[in-house]
Amino acid sequence: MKLLLCISTLCLFLALLASSRFTNMGHAAPAQEIAWPRLDQTQYAGSEKCATCHKDYSQSWKNSAHNKMIRPAIAEGPNKTIVADFSVPSPNRTFELKDVRWVIGHRWKQRFIGVVDGQEVVFPGQWSIKEQKWQPYTGKADWWYPQHPDWKTRSNFKLCAGCHSTGVDATSHTWTEQNITCESCHGPGKAHVEKPTATNIVNPARLTTERSMEVCLACHQAGKPAGNEYAWPVGYQPGKKLADYWHGFEPEPGKQTAEFWNNGTAHKNRVQGNTFAQSVMHAHGIQCSNCHDSHGSRNLSMTVKSASTNALCLTCHGPGKSVGPNYATITEHTHHAATSTGSQCINCHMPRTGENSVGAEARDHTFNFVSPSVSLGKPDAAGKTNPNSCNLCHTDKTAEWALDQTKKWYPKLK
Ligand code: HEC
Ligand code: HEC
Ligand code: HEC
Ligand code: HEC
Ligand code: HEC
Ligand code: HEC
Ligand code: HEC
Ligand code: HEC
Repeated sequence: MKLLLCISTLCLFLALLASSRFTNMGHAAPAQEIAWPRLDQTQYAGSEKCATCHKDYSQSWKNSAHNKMIRPAIAEGPNKTIVADFSVPSPNRTFELKDVRWVIGHRWKQRFIGVVDGQEVVFPGQWSIKEQKWQPYTGKADWWYPQHPDWKTRSNFKLCAGCHSTGVDATSHTWTEQNITCESCHGPGKAHVEKPTATNIVNPARLTTERSMEVCLACHQAGKPAGNEYAWPVGYQPGKKLADYWHGFEPEPGKQTAEFWNNGTAHKNRVQGNTFAQSVMHAHGIQCSNCHDSHGSRNLSMTVKSASTNALCLTCHGPGKSVGPNYATITEHTHHAATSTGSQCINCHMPRTGENSVGAEARDHTFNFVSPSVSLGKPDAAGKTNPNSCNLCHTDKTAEWALDQTKKWYPKLK
């Protein structure tokens, strides 16, 4: 009986998915509620259980950003989670610290969740860590805005929780654990905890490259699920095919959107998957975990080796390596002194084109050198032109100046 019920719910879900699949992108449309299937939360064990046998991974993961995403509001002491300054008055902050149930984020910005009419909702103000000030959080750039224009109806469970918490069930609006935990990437682990084998837990390293990378893309790729009520891939679990649950946005050449500049580079944060999909490295089977250690590392952004010393890129690139570039001294390739920040691979190949709490904070993952020529076009509605690799540093120089230099230095550049 139980099985039958399960199967019929699944059929209903698939039928709904087929009919309303990924429609209504960004236009004001009535809410399309979907009868999402229930998630079997009893199959989740919790990260404390994993820690009893996998101590090293647990220790480093505990200190990583993935474990600092959504936490209770603690304003003082060693376990402090609030970095925002609630003593600063601002028209952008219409709520008080005492109203906050959960704090989201710790690195670029903090947003806050409280309870309105019995529902967890996201408050309409955020703290920029870089600028140390309160900003409005309107949601206007998000595709879901037309369905959720009033912040008092912006449900944490519908719009956020699926990417910030583990084992989130869309029918009961509950989670098994806060933050991005072991089971966010390895799937539910109860059976494995009871009888550990290599086959009853998902190991991304044993999946195909595509399936493996989708584990990250479920959260690190801008897109939408079916319908327009939810904003995360409801029903997806590691090992499954993400496209059955999520439509990842792609850039349209020449068109600027919330996600992309008109040359396809990152216009905002959280588009690593969308931009990396365009890269030569992706085409050659490189994936997120070639450069990032999911269990945390000592380097900025959990890279497996340091990017600021170039060690990460030089694992595979550099003189003598088949993928180039070839040079006798690094200056030959970068035209900057070896010790200059202008000689760091990521500063030309992963410029900060994307806005996070402020502009120029999020690194592009197309890995293309972004030529100054892209900045010569017409400014957008906000009066901005595409950023390029050179002028993000040389802010006092024009794009024409940078293009001129670039042409002299890299005559073969198209
Ligand atoms: C009782 C000890 C124990 C607990 C608890 C445990 N594991 Fe394991 N885990 C093991 C052992 C032993 C292996 C190696 C199994 C083998 O190779 O047959 C393993 C292997 C793995 C692997 C690699 C599988 C592969 O492809 O080789 C992953 C991933 C993993 N565990 C994740 C987890 C997660 C996530 C949890 C918590 C939900 C967890 N483990 C809890 C003992 C445990
Ligand atoms: C599809 C998955 C997804 C959804 C939905 C989502 N986020 Fe996130 N969020 C992420 C990822 C991944 C990051 C970190 C990567 C990045 O910013 O590039 C992030 C980053 C953030 C940060 C910055 C964290 C920091 O340390 O500075 C905040 C704040 C945040 N999200 C709030 C929200 C809120 C509020 C919602 C709901 C309205 C939401 N997010 C919905 C995936 C998601
Ligand atoms: C953000 C995603 C993510 C999280 C969170 C995560 N893992 Fe993993 N884990 C991976 C990936 C990806 C691999 C494959 C490693 C690779 O390709 O380098 C992996 C591999 C493993 C392995 C197998 C390692 C081996 O040598 O074969 C174990 C065991 C493991 N993880 C345990 C854990 C435990 C325990 C936790 C929680 C404390 C955890 N993981 C949290 C993504 C994650
Ligand atoms: C369930 C959603 C989810 C999954 C799955 C996920 N991430 Fe994340 N990731 C996030 C969120 C949310 C943040 C922001 C955390 C914060 O700022 O506190 C983040 C942050 C990061 C960061 C920045 C870390 C830092 O130190 O600032 C990296 C790198 C990253 N993730 C890589 C990965 C990789 C690689 C995978 C796949 C193996 C992965 N993530 C899987 C949600 C996820
Ligand atoms: C795990 C190995 C690996 C790492 C680490 C790596 N790359 Fe790559 N990269 C490759 C491969 C393989 C290719 C494809 C080369 C080809 O065209 O055959 C590539 C291609 C590229 C290209 C495109 C070259 C072209 O022909 O257009 C750029 C640019 C690039 N990588 C930059 C970087 C940067 C910057 C880093 C450090 C953040 C980095 N790579 C780290 C393996 C790697
Ligand atoms: C000052 C800017 C700058 C820096 C720093 C820089 N590059 Fe480049 N790189 C370029 C430009 C410009 C091109 C030519 C792009 C093209 O042909 O499309 C290029 C091309 C490449 C290519 C593909 C063509 C080739 O020569 O094989 C690779 C691979 C590459 N760079 C890797 C790196 C690595 C690795 C580092 C760090 C050691 C690095 N770059 C640092 C600007 C830079
Ligand atoms: C070739 C190496 C490479 C690959 C592949 C790669 N990244 Fe990154 N990533 C980096 C480097 C380098 C940084 C910046 C580190 C720094 O600032 O020192 C970074 C930064 C990030 C950040 C922090 C946000 C930011 O704007 O700086 C996130 C999140 C992230 N990567 C996620 C991903 C995901 C998800 C994938 C796969 C879709 C991926 N990365 C693929 C090298 C890589
Ligand atoms: C990460 C920051 C950074 C990036 C990216 C960068 N530069 Fe520089 N550049 C510097 C610094 C710092 C100096 C000072 C001298 C040095 O360290 O080599 C400099 C010096 C120069 C100089 C000589 C001094 C001057 O101002 O006349 C020129 C020309 C130049 N850069 C052009 C470029 C061009 C063209 C690009 C893009 C291909 C570029 N730079 C990318 C940081 C950067």
